[in-house]
Amino acid sequence: MYSEKVMDHFQNPRNVGEIEGASGTGTVGNAKCGDIMRIYLDIDENHVIQDVKFKTFGCGAAVATSSMATEMVKGKTIEEAMQVTNKAVCEALDGLPPAKIHCSLLAEEAIHAALWDYAEKNHIVIEGLEKPKTDIGEEEVEEEY
Ligand code: FES
Repeated sequence: MYSEKVMDHFQNPRNVGEIEGASGTGTVGNAKCGDIMRIYLDIDENHVIQDVKFKTFGCGAAVATSSMATEMVKGKTIEEAMQVTNKAVCEALDGLPPAKIHCSLLAEEAIHAALWDYAEKNHIVIEGLEKPKTDIGEEEVEEEY
């Protein structure tokens, strides 16, 4: 039911932990299941994400998608990180069962929330970034993966 990549990232999640004095921190909850995700970003003066960590109270799919998402944004600029959608993360993991797609939203939304926090602290505007919702998953996600 799960791809090998999902199982790998679930069993050996990358970038678990926290960053003290992070440039931006974002926490979101999934309204469907009540699970929670927190992302920490360390961003340098050139707007490059030098480090990223996550902590979650979430299911295996949430762990795997967050692990993959953190790998995909690390070393990227903010603009590049904005392209890392939950769809891109699911594809990188060779797909998720439809019932677990909502779990992958946690990572994307938590990264956006952390970027929002960074933007607010530094008085900058990140193109395409909308104020994050704290609770996600209320609307149906298009399950087209
Ligand atoms: Fe809650 Fe997957 S069931 S994040």
